[in-house]
Order: sequence, then C-alpha cells, then structure tokens
Amino acid sequence: MKTQVAIIGGGPSGLLLSQLLNRVGVETVVLERSTREHVLSRIRAGILEWGAVDLLREAGVGDRMGKEGIPHDGCYMTDEDLMVHIDFKHLTGKQVMVYGQTEVTTDLYAAQDTMGTQILHGVEDVSIHDLDQTQSYVTFRHEGEEKRLDCLFVAGCDGFHGVSRKTIPEEKRSEFERVYPFGWLGILSHTPPVNDELIYSNSRHGFALASMRNENLVRYYVQVPLTDTVEDWSDDRFWEEFSRRIPSEAASRLVTGPSIEKSIAPLRSFVSEPLRWGNLFLVGDAAHIVPPTGAKGLNLAASDVFYLHQALIDAVKSNSQTGIEEYSARALQRIWKAMRFSWQMTTMLHRFDGEDSFAEQMRKSTLRHLADSETARRDLAENYIGLPY
Ligand code: FAD
Ligand code: DHB
Repeated sequence: MKTQVAIIGGGPSGLLLSQLLNRVGVETVVLERSTREHVLSRIRAGILEWGAVDLLREAGVGDRMGKEGIPHDGCYMTDEDLMVHIDFKHLTGKQVMVYGQTEVTTDLYAAQDTMGTQILHGVEDVSIHDLDQTQSYVTFRHEGEEKRLDCLFVAGCDGFHGVSRKTIPEEKRSEFERVYPFGWLGILSHTPPVNDELIYSNSRHGFALASMRNENLVRYYVQVPLTDTVEDWSDDRFWEEFSRRIPSEAASRLVTGPSIEKSIAPLRSFVSEPLRWGNLFLVGDAAHIVPPTGAKGLNLAASDVFYLHQALIDAVKSNSQTGIEEYSARALQRIWKAMRFSWQMTTMLHRFDGEDSFAEQMRKSTLRHLADSETARRDLAENYIGLPY
C-alpha cells in the first residue's frame, strides 16, 4: 500500500487531520487499533473552544454541531460561600461550545465515509520505519495479514499509550511530567442540567464539576482518591457526594437519576519534546496530556492539527519545508500555555491530601481575587475560551 500521509490513530486528532488533508487532495490512510464502536463509545471531553469550532467547520463537519451544540457565554467558579461568574462573552467577546467528543468523532467518521478515505480498524503491531529517509513506511498486521504502507510522512495521533512517541529515540526526547494524587469520577445521566452554565466547584470535600451534553443529559464529576474504583461508587453515593460539593443554591435544584456511564480518569500533566522526528509528527495526546480541569485536552489536539495540516499541505503540494520545520516550536508554544492554565486551574480547585491550612487559604483568596478583579476574570476567560492559533 502507498499513501502520502500515514496517520496512526483514528481518535479526534487522526480523523480531523485526515479530513482536512483529504479535502484538499492530500491522500491519507488512517490505522486504528480499536473498532469504530469502541472509539465512539469513549466518553471524554465536552467543551470546544471557538477555534476548534471554526476548524471543524473548515473541515466540513460543522452542520450537526451548529444545530445540536450549545454555545455557552460563561461559567461559574465557586466554593461553599462564593459563586463567581466568568462572563466570557463580556470579557473576551467569545463563547465556547458544549459538544461532546463522541459527537465530534461521529461527525468526522461520517464525513470520512462520504469522502471514501481509507480507515483501517483493528490494526495490530504498528511499527514505523525509515523516518530519516526521503520515504518512510509503516508495517502492521490487519485481518491476519502482515501489511506495509509506504508514505512521505507519518502523523502520530495515537494517544498517550501509542507507538509513535516511543519510536523517537529516548535520548532525543525530553519529557516533562506531573502526576496529581487524585482522579475524576465522571457520570453521564439522562437528567436536566443543574445549572445553565458549567460550575467548577472547590468545596472543602473536594472538587466537583457540573457539565452537560444537552438539555436532558448531564456530565458530572467529583474528585476521588486514586485508589478508588468505579465499584466503590454506587449512584446514590455519587449523588450524595456531588450534591454536597456544589453550592447549596444549585444543590437544591439538583435532579438525580440512574447513571448510564461511570468512569475514573487519573489526572496528569505531560509534555514530550520535540514533536517532530524526521518524517514523524506527534499530535494531540501522543505528545501531551493536560489535567481536564481547564477543558483543554481535545482543544489542544485541534490546534496541533491546525498547525500540522497547513504544514503538510505546503510540503506535499508546494514542496515547501518551512511549515514542517516550524511545526514543533509553533505547536509547543501554545501547548505550554495550555499546560500552565490547566495546572493553575487544577491547583486552584482541588484539595490535595495532606495539604497544610495555608493551601486552602490560597484557594479561597484566589477565588475572592477573581470575584473582585475584572482583570483576573478576563485572564481566566481568555485562557478558557482558547488562546489564538
Ligand atoms: P486519543 O483520543 O487517545 O486517540 C488515539 C487513538 O489512537 C485511539 O483511538 C487509540 O485506539 C489509537 N491507538 C493507540 N495506540 C495505537 C496503535 N499502536 N496503533 C493504532 N492506533 C492506536 N479532555 C477534555 O478536554 N475534557 C475531558 O473531560 C476529558 N476527559 C478525558 C478522560 C479520559 C479517560 C481520557 C483518556 C482523556 C480525557 N480527555 C479530556 C482528553 C481528551 O479526550 C483527549 O485530549 C483527546 O481524546 C485527544 O485526542 P487524540 O486523538 O490525540 O487521542
Ligand atoms: C467537561 C470536561 C472537562 O474536563 C471540563 O473542564 C469541562 C467539561 C465535560 O466532560 O463536559
């Protein structure tokens, strides 16, 4: 087999890149380890920056998002005593879009089907070769047969546990990591949202987040110890805990119901530099992980794709190397700013086991500073709605 860009991973990064490239006639083959059903069933991100919304529109997958996505003008940061409204629209002129990652990947798969691009599912033992040569190739097993895919470039869109990052020699990589001592337990439930905008709550019992997917589907989270498992959390226990962590005014409106999904995600900050090794380019979670508190994971994947699709189009169509030479540095500038924001939001909103009383005061006064200073609120809003590409 032969293509121009081999894309490892058919999650949001790989699909969006494939979509943007094929639309202008750059050929791709996507190699995905799991089934399509599995990719579409992974409940993850829920908030899109407007830059990601525009990019999805440019990719030709904006129609359903335009009808079913819910634009939000702001969100709330709270503790027990204080609810601070962050009015994105007033502070920055911009909004964010509530539209789940599963919807984004559903739309991308449908668009790729319409275009007739090649996406192979269930591929095993992917291995990337000759990255320092003019032509590279990828070997893998598919439907019991050993296969070889020749290509000009390889996009590593295969997430944190993928093979792409590990193909870069260890001595050529710098990794930066912080693992947080807690996770998020998330549930989906067919109930009306407790509030019309998201609530990020720093309570003395730990963090909670009230998010949503639509007017009758909520996504709620609570901070839990890393040692907890989903089995430790019955629906009743979840609702009780969630309810005491959100402001009482909101809790009085809370509608509970059975959960239809429940999962625990650990929190981590991670960056691997550089993003380019010869003909290989890392994109999204393959290169970096943010704790979910700033809603940046999927959005960073989109901005990486934005930089890389332009660079690959220039390289394939005009033989211009500038974009691919600058990709790593360009993407990393934005990645590090999102890392800082996500770390700051995580520190501001969570209880850390064994912390001193000073830490709690710092969190409290950060919230009070936000309440009193429009400058502080604008700074948070600018980062939350997404820094420019
Ligand atoms: P992925 O979505 O990880 O996709 C990578 C794809 O590559 C997968 O389909 C995988 O099967 C495939 N793959 C892996 N290895 C191979 C291989 N060797 N060969 C072929 N294919 C391979 N972000 C938020 O903003 N908010 C959230 O609430 C949020 N919650 C999250 C919860 C969890 C449990 C996780 C793991 C992430 C969460 N994120 C969240 C982050 C967000 O979902 C990711 O940033 C986003 O999915 C990144 O997209 P990606 O395409 O780069 O990687
Ligand atoms: C959601 C997840 C987040 O991490 C976040 O910051 C906001 C919303 C969500 O799943 O809806």
